[in-house]
Amino acid sequence: MQIRSMVAALAMVAGASFALNASAQAPIVIKFSHVVATDTPKGRAAERFKDLAEKLTKGRVKVEVYPNSQLYKDKEELEALQLGAVQMLAPSLAKFAPLGVKEFEVFDLPYIFPNKTALYTVTEGPIGKGLLQKLEPKGITGLAYWDNGFKIMSANKPLHVPSDFRGLKMRIQSSKVLDAQMRALGANPQVLAFSEVYQALQTGVVDGTENPPSNMYTQKMHEVQKHVTMSNHGYLGYAVIVNKKFWDGLPADVRGQLQQAMGEATKYEKAIAQQDNDAALDAIRKAGKTTIYTPTPAEQAEWRKVLVPVQKQMAGRVGADLITTINKATASAQ
Ligand code: LMR
Repeated sequence: MQIRSMVAALAMVAGASFALNASAQAPIVIKFSHVVATDTPKGRAAERFKDLAEKLTKGRVKVEVYPNSQLYKDKEELEALQLGAVQMLAPSLAKFAPLGVKEFEVFDLPYIFPNKTALYTVTEGPIGKGLLQKLEPKGITGLAYWDNGFKIMSANKPLHVPSDFRGLKMRIQSSKVLDAQMRALGANPQVLAFSEVYQALQTGVVDGTENPPSNMYTQKMHEVQKHVTMSNHGYLGYAVIVNKKFWDGLPADVRGQLQQAMGEATKYEKAIAQQDNDAALDAIRKAGKTTIYTPTPAEQAEWRKVLVPVQKQMAGRVGADLITTINKATASAQ
């Protein structure tokens, strides 16, 4: 009897140490899901983060990047993050209201940022940090802001002045500020997941949309949109976010290495964002299927007259103080 119980005890110890050993070798897996093509600023930065994270942690972390809504599309991805089914996302700042953080829609306000310098004053300073902190009670940790530049408008008719939008069904992201923006132009806004936009444009479910050139080109929207207007009326950026429980549960040294990887990937992303969008616009022009129009100064004044009031109209939703703080912080960047 004694030998048998000794053998059983030895087997248990062996089993436990094997499991311990195995778990000691098994990498920590980060599933990084996003909805855009790999050859976009966000897609390329996700790949750069993967390379840096795996190198700096010496293989203790493995990053699996799932681009183009392969794993989850828009709304699903936030739910998946909160459930811990994925560990990292980089959603558009227009998509955080469903999490209960409506303030992020301040980034959607037309003409709130006169240029990139003004934008970086916000995303790299206390205002941006304060917004990311609002995600913590939702079980999410915000790590960084990534950039994709200013949006252009597209449709199958020329869009020179606001009245050209009258009656158009325009696809938007899930943001009440973007809803108000399109209604101010006389259009009918329609929220659709990013992965559904091309087909909706192709079949006429919607007439037009807005996005930076890199998103339009990589989703082939230019093939089903005869007209693009260089309006630069609003901004599109991202917050890179992780599941808080996962992030806080990491070994401190690994978390530090991942923060370094994220810092370097963020620098890279900001360095390529504008050139990627310039190259995408050039490719749209060269494809020859889309007329690219730049509004005259008088027409641009008409756009502003119609769209700037959306800032006041939506102050109750995003926070009047937040808008005032941003306008003050960016005034010197005008
Ligand atoms: C969109 O849905 O239009 C964008 O947010 C897609 C993206 O993530 O750039």
